[in-house]
Amino acid sequence: MVRAIELAQDVRTTTSPNPWVGCVIVDRAGEVAGEGATAPPGGPHAEISALALARERARGATVYVTLEPCAHHGRTPPCTDALIRAGVARVVAGVSDPDGRVAGAGFRALEAAGITVSKGLLAGAVGDQLRPYLVHRATGRPYVVLKLAATLDGRTAAPDGSSRWITGDEARRDVHRLRAESDAVLVGAGTVRSDDPALTVRDDAHPEPRRQPLRVVLGHVPAGARVQPALERGGDLGAVLDELGRRGVLQLLVEGGAHVAQGFHRAGLVDRYVWYLAPAFLGGDDGRPILAGRGPRRWQMPGAAGSSRFAGSEVTCASTSSPTRCGSLRCRRRKAKRCRDELRVRGCVAAGRLDAGEGGGDRRADGKHRGGDRSYRTR
Ligand SMILES: NC(=O)c1ccc[n+]([C@@H]2O[C@H](COP(=O)([O-])OP(=O)(O)OC[C@H]3O[C@@H](n4cnc5c(N)ncnc54)[C@H](OP(=O)(O)O)[C@@H]3O)[C@@H](O)[C@H]2O)c1
Repeated sequence: MVRAIELAQDVRTTTSPNPWVGCVIVDRAGEVAGEGATAPPGGPHAEISALALARERARGATVYVTLEPCAHHGRTPPCTDALIRAGVARVVAGVSDPDGRVAGAGFRALEAAGITVSKGLLAGAVGDQLRPYLVHRATGRPYVVLKLAATLDGRTAAPDGSSRWITGDEARRDVHRLRAESDAVLVGAGTVRSDDPALTVRDDAHPEPRRQPLRVVLGHVPAGARVQPALERGGDLGAVLDELGRRGVLQLLVEGGAHVAQGFHRAGLVDRYVWYLAPAFLGGDDGRPILAGRGPRRWQMPGAAGSSRFAGSEVTCASTSSPTRCGSLRCRRRKAKRCRDELRVRGCVAAGRLDAGEGGGDRRADGKHRGGDRSYRTR
C-alpha cells in the first residue's frame, strides 16, 4: 500500500476531477506483477493500468489499491468488472469511495464474485492524500486551502500594500506546487489591484503542457489585469464554494489578501492553513495583518469550549529558509546575529538567515508606537 500511495502521489496534479489513485498487484508467488496510477480524465484508472502489466499473473493475485474500485460506467467501464475477469483473489483497499455512484457498491460487486475484500489498510495516510476528493464528494464543496505569507511580526504587506516578496524562492516554488494541485485559485479584488498577480502555475520542475487552475476573483477585475480571464464572484462565500463544487473544483487555493482570508476563516470554511513565515520583521503596527477586521474579544485556548471552529483544520506553518531580507530594516550585524540565535532556540526559524535590524515597531516608554516602514521590498 505504501507503494500504491507513492504511485498516486506521482499523478496528484493530473487526474482531477478524478481521484489520484495508486494500485499494486502482487502475484501468488508474492512478486509485484503490475502497478499503475490514474491517468488523466478519460484514460485508464489505476487498477486497469496495473492489470495490463500483470496480465496472466493477475490470476489469484492480491490487489492493493488506495481507493475502493469503481463499479459504474463513467468515462471508462467499471474497474470491478476488469478485476473479476482477471481472476484476482483478494483486493486490499485504503479507503471507501464516498462518491454516490460507488459508496460500497465496488466492494459489494467484488465480494459477490467471490473476491476477498479487506478495507482500511493505511486508511489514515490514504485519507490524507485523497482529502480534497473525499471532502468534495462528501460535501459537494471544494477542500479549501488558505495560504498566506507573513513576516515574523505577522504582517502580510506594508501600509502602502506592497508585499513582494515577503518570502523567498523556496516558498514561491511551494506555492506553485500548491497551485498545480488546485483546480481553482481565488484572491480578492484588493490583491488584484495592488499586486496584479497572474495566478498561473509556473514550475520549472513540471514543464508544459500543464493544466492551469480556474482563476476566481472576489469583486471586480480591472481592465488589463493579468489575472484575466477570471470568474468574478462575490457575496456569500458558501454559495461561491457550492458553485465551484458543482464545477468540479476539488481543491480551492485561497491566496488572500487579509479581507478575503478573514472571510473564509471567520466562516469556518478553511480546511487547511498554509502559513509561510519569512525570517524578517516589518516593524510597526500599521502594516497589513494576516486576517483583517475584528477578531474575538477574548483569547481562548485552542480546544476550549467555543473555540471548536478550527477543529479538524490542518495547519502547515513553514518558515522559509531563503535569504529574504527586509530591505527597509537597517541591519546591524551584531543585532541580527542575536535575533537569529534567539529565534533558533525557540525553533521559529528552521534554517537560514534572519536579516533584521532594529525595526520600527519598538514600543516606546510612553506606550506609543513608532510607525513601521511604509513599503516592503526585498534586496
Ligand atoms: N502576504 C501575502 O500572503 C499576501 C497575499 C495576498 C495579498 N497580500 C496583500 O494584501 C493586500 C490586499 O489585501 P486586502 O485585504 O486589501 O484585499 P483582498 O482581501 O485581496 O480583497 C478584498 C476585496 O475583495 C472584494 N470582495 C468581494 N466579495 C468579497 C467577500 N465576500 N469577502 C471579501 N472580499 C470580497 C472587495 O472588493 P471591492 O472593495 O472592490 O468590492 C474587497 O474589498 C495587498 O497589499 C497585497 O499585496 C498579501
